[in-house]
Amino acid sequence: MRRDHILTASRGDIGLIGLAVMGQNLILNAADHGYTVVAYNRTVSKVDRFLEDEAKGKSIIGAHSVEELCANLKRPRRVILLVKAGSAVDAFIEQLLPYMEQGDIIIDGGNSHFPDSNRRFEELKQKGIHFVGSGVSGGEEGARYGPSLMPGGAPEAWPHIKEIFQSIAAKSEGEACCDWVGPAGAGHYVKMVHNGIEYGDMQLICEAYDIMKRLGGFTDKEIGQVFSEWNKGILDSFLIEITRDILLYEDLDGTPLVEKILDSAGQKGTGKWTAINALDMGMPVTLIGEAVFARCLSSLKDERMRASALLSGPEIPKDAVKDRKQFVDDLEQALYASKIMSYAQGFMLMREAGKTFGWELNFPAIALMWRGGCIIRSVFLAQITKAYRENPYLENLLFNKFFADAVTKAQQGWRRTIGLATTYGIPTPAFSTALAFYDGYRSKRLPANLLQAQRDYFGAHTFRVLPEAASAHLPVDKDIHINWTGKGGNISASTYQA
Ligand code: 2AM
Repeated sequence: MRRDHILTASRGDIGLIGLAVMGQNLILNAADHGYTVVAYNRTVSKVDRFLEDEAKGKSIIGAHSVEELCANLKRPRRVILLVKAGSAVDAFIEQLLPYMEQGDIIIDGGNSHFPDSNRRFEELKQKGIHFVGSGVSGGEEGARYGPSLMPGGAPEAWPHIKEIFQSIAAKSEGEACCDWVGPAGAGHYVKMVHNGIEYGDMQLICEAYDIMKRLGGFTDKEIGQVFSEWNKGILDSFLIEITRDILLYEDLDGTPLVEKILDSAGQKGTGKWTAINALDMGMPVTLIGEAVFARCLSSLKDERMRASALLSGPEIPKDAVKDRKQFVDDLEQALYASKIMSYAQGFMLMREAGKTFGWELNFPAIALMWRGGCIIRSVFLAQITKAYRENPYLENLLFNKFFADAVTKAQQGWRRTIGLATTYGIPTPAFSTALAFYDGYRSKRLPANLLQAQRDYFGAHTFRVLPEAASAHLPVDKDIHINWTGKGGNISASTYQA
């Protein structure tokens, strides 16, 4: 193609590289909203196929090279990458750079790990290119009809992409589920936490199903009906809705298909990233951690089969559940309260990340972005949006009156559910860790005093005293080491010796 021809054809509002299903659907979505999209793919034959098929007759231009893609775009150029996370993103950025100018915008809409986005943001900043890392959630259907979009990166880019992003995003009560998240890799960070929370929500639902099945002796149809009811109340959400549909789905022989599925869970790693990051940040995001570990335990299927024959547990009597209505109501409260803990933990993590990375995160917007379009979308997130709108600096979701009251109301049923499950040996890692977190978080005094003493005993790690217990030999605000046995040394690095 001749270059002068290329230069005259800058009609495209936005370019998109990567014509897998998500990419194609996002292009069709943008075209439906009146934008002219320039499409490119590494395997160029996919461009022609797309243009002849789904894209036919729409405001979509096919490009057969990165050069052609860039030449077809209005300035500043806006290019979305929807390619496999990792080296493909770096490779395309390298290919784009010779055809880009200062102020142009590269948006990575893939599932990139946020440290990569931090790096790309810095590298492109040196070159005068604005990098945006955007979480995209909602699967294929979301991409086509309205995903949740979580963009972050160079703030200079936002005014140039805001209109397109907000028009193609999902809407919740008329508001777009897309807003600016924060700088550098913040968009991908928030998407990572979203996925972690998704792991937690799914695990909680699975535990509720297991409890109903094994303790309550409910059939899948009955459980499906319970989920159907729950979906009309406080738990109304996409994941509850699909769980209802899954449980009611029958195979050709008329039995529930779900019972034929191997109980060994897979994972792609975003939940694990969240859990690892929580450990790095020193934040007790226990529910996501347990959700990841629960998948790991499930995948030890062969070992579990052997263990089931060797290791004993309590018998579950036929009348373990005496009052079915109470049991289901308690379970609903357990699920609700645990979910509150999970979201409180997720927001604690993001708050800490904000401090660590120096990101001013937009919490009310994050809650709104998760309200619709994405996998964790729920009515519940409207309350979180409200809580953060009332106070964007809310220290903890549990300090919001609505959620504090909700947990107070839910906790009896929550405790009864876990008590019953524990008594009869049904594992509830997510329910239980949520409750342990709640009880720990609301404890004025935890046994860490003893822990500090142990650390000082064997490792001279020192401790501090409670202000009210301070005395001449135990001064406040000083690192103190005690010679607990009278035998070891008095030495501890740079400490006050009591
Ligand atoms: P392809 O159609 O040429 O395979 C999802 O896999 C998308 O990422 C597809 O558009 C795919 O292009 C692209 N992709 C995957 N690995 C890639 C790589 N190493 N370089 C460029 N594009 C890649």
